[in-house]
Amino acid sequence: MKKPTKIVRAGLSKKRNGGVVNTPIVRASTVVFESVAQMRDSYERVTKKREKVLSYGRRGTATHWTLQEALTDLAGGADTVLTPSGLSACTLAILGCVKAGDHILVSDSAYEPTALFCGGLLKSLGVETTYFDPLIGAGIATLMRPNTTLVFCESPGSHTFEVQDIPAIAAVAHKHGAKVAVDNTWASPLFCRPLALGADLSVEAATKYIVGHSDVLIGAITGTEEAIAGVHKAAGAIGIATSPDDAYLATRGLRTLSVRLNQHQQNAWTVAQWLLAHPQVKRVLYPPLPGDPGHGLWKRDFTGGSGLMGVVFHRTSPAAMAALIDGMELFALGFSWGGFESLVAPSNPARQVKPWAEPTPGIRLHIGLEDPEDLIADLDQGLARFRAALA
Ligand SMILES: Cc1ncc(COP(=O)(O)O)c(C=O)c1O
Repeated sequence: MKKPTKIVRAGLSKKRNGGVVNTPIVRASTVVFESVAQMRDSYERVTKKREKVLSYGRRGTATHWTLQEALTDLAGGADTVLTPSGLSACTLAILGCVKAGDHILVSDSAYEPTALFCGGLLKSLGVETTYFDPLIGAGIATLMRPNTTLVFCESPGSHTFEVQDIPAIAAVAHKHGAKVAVDNTWASPLFCRPLALGADLSVEAATKYIVGHSDVLIGAITGTEEAIAGVHKAAGAIGIATSPDDAYLATRGLRTLSVRLNQHQQNAWTVAQWLLAHPQVKRVLYPPLPGDPGHGLWKRDFTGGSGLMGVVFHRTSPAAMAALIDGMELFALGFSWGGFESLVAPSNPARQVKPWAEPTPGIRLHIGLEDPEDLIADLDQGLARFRAALA
């Protein structure tokens, strides 16, 4: 089946829902049993065999299973663990692969809170992190140590947009016995399948495109059998649980992912072309553009581009950037992205390996589902304010 078909059909089960199309919201903490034997049996089936049967609300209900099955199918993995946010999906994916004394490699393009987790809590648990240049490719071999157990990528980075060579990185990591996890939020499972490129875990901040409506926080980790077993163990130990209401909304959002993302892509392309021709703009960081340094890898490994891009200016200042953003009519200022609406945010990439070489601050745009002509008119006025504030 093609991906748009899978997006609509994956996880749907006539049997589970008694004919109702969408799995209803099944809320539960306590589940009651007929006998001690049944209680023991369901506990063992869930915890040891990871079967999707009712045991206790924290371990999931039919509402979660529908989303898990759909995401597993789309990502091409063995199973999916849901988490209460995208950030917790990143941190749990890491925790599922490490123990005290281990060393991990993290792309310098990683979302800043993921890096803060590595430098903070993870460090205090005895796991060391080294950052790598996102463009390192097979050169990652030089950073591998005997105790390296994980390479964590975010491709493309959500502020700097470098595409990482996952097949090359995975080949090296696997040779050294390490796993590879990829934060795949920019592409979503519609436009990239990291597991098919050799990764062991594919991480989604489903909060963004899968939910698609800026009203739910949820994360998902899909993995190979071996890798996801470690994540399940960590999730069980910590007591990770997601609300069935949120899982329901994420499944509902998922069903329209391909129509939404194709429109985001089309709008983003139109806006990017306009920006490229603007005299204030030095670079548009968007791998689908032929001039983007990541374009070759993007063409090889992705089937589309989403609505998130960076804009680098020839000359900039914090005051000019604020003048641009503060007066926007359509582009709202806020954290996150991936909803139906357009957003703008300041961009000051924090790097560990080598400083970000472009003038800062830049801006990051999320191109929503509005008409691109209206978005361009808003940006045109914003860039006029920007130019006036620079003068
Ligand atoms: C690439 C990426 N990963 C993870 C996250 C975290 O997602 P959440 O906000 O759901 O915790 C974000 C949020 O902006 C992100 O951009």
